[in-house]
Amino acid sequence: MKIVMLGAPGAGKGTQARMISEKYGIPQISTGDIFRANIRNQTELGQKAKSYMDQGLLVPDELTLDLIMDRLSQDDCAKGYILDGFPRTIPQAEALTKALEAHDTKIDYAIDVEVPDENIVERMSGRRSCPICGATYHIRYNAPVKEGICDECGAELTQREDDKAETVQKRLSVYHASTQPLIEYYRTQGCMYSVDGTKPMDDVFNDICAILN
Ligand code: AP5
Ligand code: MG
Repeated sequence: MKIVMLGAPGAGKGTQARMISEKYGIPQISTGDIFRANIRNQTELGQKAKSYMDQGLLVPDELTLDLIMDRLSQDDCAKGYILDGFPRTIPQAEALTKALEAHDTKIDYAIDVEVPDENIVERMSGRRSCPICGATYHIRYNAPVKEGICDECGAELTQREDDKAETVQKRLSVYHASTQPLIEYYRTQGCMYSVDGTKPMDDVFNDICAILN
């Protein structure tokens, strides 16, 4: 099963992708998480990506595509995967379709988690992330048991650099210009579904499972 998660920054793609990954036993592949791990490890890719991410801009397709194609060729992707944050531009989607066609396969489900822009800034300001295992929390909607500490691995939670209000606004406008057109792209491919992302997390998850079952 190959799934693409679509939706604005902060819509809950990562939250839902993690739940799908656990239930269906397929990996969650987040280009954002991969870039952030590269920034933490001070790789050359990380340095290049950081300059774009800090401004709320997309990392250029040529940097993103090699990275993702390499990741999708790894053994754990054989049964499928959930793409969280990729593709994000029409050229990325076209490159993915082409790579999958070469193996006689395709995306089965593209799922848009719909949340209006008004709700996004509050979600982002309350988000806390684990830099080690990638778990995501919210100070109001999904608080960790012990404040500031990851329930899953005990690491100290951090706030993402790009979650400042001005950067969030920029990410939203980049989303509308470059990523939202993918909804039409996958509709044309006949695999587009959407869920109401303003519901509580478990309800959103149930709606997604109803689509996947
Ligand atoms: P990326 O890391 O993908 O960020 P994003 O798309 O902006 O999305 P977020 O991760 O911020 O949000 P999310 O939808 O995963 O929401 P979450 O589940 O955390 O990308 C970051 C940057 O990397 C980009 O700006 C770009 O520069 C670069 N990049 C990445 N991929 C790229 C690509 N393919 N090409 C080019 N550049 C790329 O939830 C948000 C908060 O809300 C959390 O606190 C959560 O607990 C809470 N929440 C979730 N669901 C609910 C709910 N139902 N109700 C209440 N609260 C909820
Ligand atoms: Mg995410």
